[in-house]
Amino acid sequence: MTTQEFVPGLAGVPAAESAISYIDGAAGILEYRGYRIETLSEKSNFEEVAWLLLKGKLPTRAELEQFRTELRARRDLAAPLLTLMRALPREGHPMNALQASLAGLGMVSPKVDYRDADSSWEAILRLLAITPVLVATFERLRRGDDYLAPDPELNTAANFLWMLNGERPKPIAERTLDCALLLHAEHTMNASTFAARVVASTEADPYTMCSSAVGALFGPLHGGANERVLQALESIGGKQNVDAWFAKKRASKGKIMGFGHRVYKTKDPRAITLQRLVRELFGELGTTPIYDTALALEKAVVGALGDKGIYPNVDFFSGIVYQKLGIPTDVFTPIFAMARVTGWLTHWQDQMKHNRIFRPGQIYIGKHDQPWVPIEERG
Ligand code: SDX
Repeated sequence: MTTQEFVPGLAGVPAAESAISYIDGAAGILEYRGYRIETLSEKSNFEEVAWLLLKGKLPTRAELEQFRTELRARRDLAAPLLTLMRALPREGHPMNALQASLAGLGMVSPKVDYRDADSSWEAILRLLAITPVLVATFERLRRGDDYLAPDPELNTAANFLWMLNGERPKPIAERTLDCALLLHAEHTMNASTFAARVVASTEADPYTMCSSAVGALFGPLHGGANERVLQALESIGGKQNVDAWFAKKRASKGKIMGFGHRVYKTKDPRAITLQRLVRELFGELGTTPIYDTALALEKAVVGALGDKGIYPNVDFFSGIVYQKLGIPTDVFTPIFAMARVTGWLTHWQDQMKHNRIFRPGQIYIGKHDQPWVPIEERG
């Protein structure tokens, strides 16, 4: 047995072989099935990218239309699930509501046999179709509105905005959210995808897997950062306050949300595309000063920490896009989740092809053969 060293956070330790997505952290490159994220964000859409990830190739027109039809046909919530959602505490966080309602979705869904292609594909369609509905429905319920039925004519992004706001979105809003969803769909072996694969490796069902992965994504060091970025930008209160705020943060050795990455040591390519979406939104809907605060913070952080590879990641600009679309701040991470369900399910397919349960080792640093001491003799 070779002596093995403990690697904190398993940094750089391969947990799988995969052809799903690829990151070059030094060059700031992200590819889904070999297609650069810039190409996909300009030429494709969320459903087409979901098919690409899941099937490993771009769909034909007929395949894409059939896929969209199948998704639209699965969006309605079963009555017991809606009853469960109505009972969830309104003051709770939407990510906890999503975690609970995904587990609930599994309770009202057909049992999944991962060895059966039709059974697996049905579960994938249901999770892709219903996760955005769960996010929008909890938002409606907690603010006192009732469930609004999905619009069978709308694709994923447009239907989410329809259910959230009760009106069909402007084309710019639909296009922007659709692009944000494809940007968040997949990202190699991030913490929530790793969590998904660990749960999948025990042969748990994909609903339970996605519910578990939502838990991992919720953390502020992962998907929960996008919500905290906007809160930080709002607390800074304007670009003129950035330097003082940043100096205080550095003095307290605090992490700046939306910056840094285990793999990227340059600007996250998704952050660059999200900035394009901000500019397009501002061009049609008018600007908001919070973006100037963000640009000033990026300049300060990169100026001080860029040589350590600390640059904006995907979470830094996404909240500015979502806020402009009128989405509440604590719904930002659920939006990340409803996109990343695509990646979790793609990795589920891969894991189950050649599954072996995850069971890493450890380096034991404790004691051995301790003598028993009766309680009356203990100090
Ligand atoms: C996502 O993995 C993925 O692919 C995730 C993701 C995806 O699509 O799935 O890309 C989505 O989760 C993006 C990351 C969102 N999280 C944040 O924005 C939270 C703030 N970022 C940091 O907590 C941190 O950068 C992580 C968690 C993202 C990465 O952590 P690492 O790789 O374990 O790095 P580290 O904490 O060991 O930091 C290394 C050094 C330290 O300095 P030293 O102790 O060596 O002097 O860099 C510093 C850190 O202090 N550092 C930061 C920093 N991030 C790292 N300093 C200030 N602010 C930061 N944000």
